[in-house]
Amino acid sequence: MKIIMLGAPGAGKGTQAKMLAKEYGIPHISTGDIFRANIKNGTQLGMEAKKYMDQGLLVPDELTVKILLDRVAQEDCKNGYVLDGFPRTIPQAEVLDQALNNLGDQIDYAIDVDVPDENIINRMSGRRACLSCGATYHVVHIPPKAEGVCDTCGQALVLRDDDKPETVKSRLEVYHKQTQPLIEFYSKKGVLRSVDGTVDMQDVFAAIKAILS
Ligand code: AP5
Ligand code: MG
Repeated sequence: MKIIMLGAPGAGKGTQAKMLAKEYGIPHISTGDIFRANIKNGTQLGMEAKKYMDQGLLVPDELTVKILLDRVAQEDCKNGYVLDGFPRTIPQAEVLDQALNNLGDQIDYAIDVDVPDENIINRMSGRRACLSCGATYHVVHIPPKAEGVCDTCGQALVLRDDDKPETVKSRLEVYHKQTQPLIEFYSKKGVLRSVDGTVDMQDVFAAIKAILS
């Protein structure tokens, strides 16, 4: 099963994508996590991506597309994957579409996790992320067992650099301008499904599973 998670920054794409990956035994692929891992390791790609990410802007398609296509060509993606944060522009979606077409394949579902802008800023300021394993928490809604420590790998949790309120505002603007048009793109292909992302994360998950089953 090949699934794309759509939605504004902070809508819960990552939270749901991780749960889906576990449920269906397929890899969770987040371009944001790939960039953050590169930033943490000080790679050339990481340094380049950080310039854009810190301003809430998209990393250019030239850098993003190749990474994603290389990743989905790996052996563990044979039976499908959940994409989280890719595609984010129409050109990215077209490249993915073409690459799948060449294999006689296509996306099964694009799931839009719908959350109004008003809810987003509050969610982001409470988010804590583990830059080692990619786990995310929320200080109120989904707290870790021990404050500031990742349940999964024991590393320190941080507030992401791009989760400051000013940057979140720019990310939302970029989302509406560059990423939201994908809703129509996938709707025209007949694979778009929408879920209400404002309810409890387990209820969001149940709604997505009902679509996929
Ligand atoms: P990326 O890492 O993809 O960030 P994003 O899209 O801005 O989304 P987030 O990860 O912030 O939110 P999310 O929807 O995953 O929400 P989460 O589950 O964490 O990208 C970061 C940057 O990298 C981009 O700005 C760009 O610069 C660059 N980039 C990445 N991909 C790119 C691409 N393809 N092209 C170009 N540039 C790219 O949830 C948010 C919070 O809410 C958490 O604290 C969570 O615990 C909580 N929460 C989740 N669900 C619920 C719920 N139902 N109720 C209450 N709280 C909830
Ligand atoms: Mg995410």
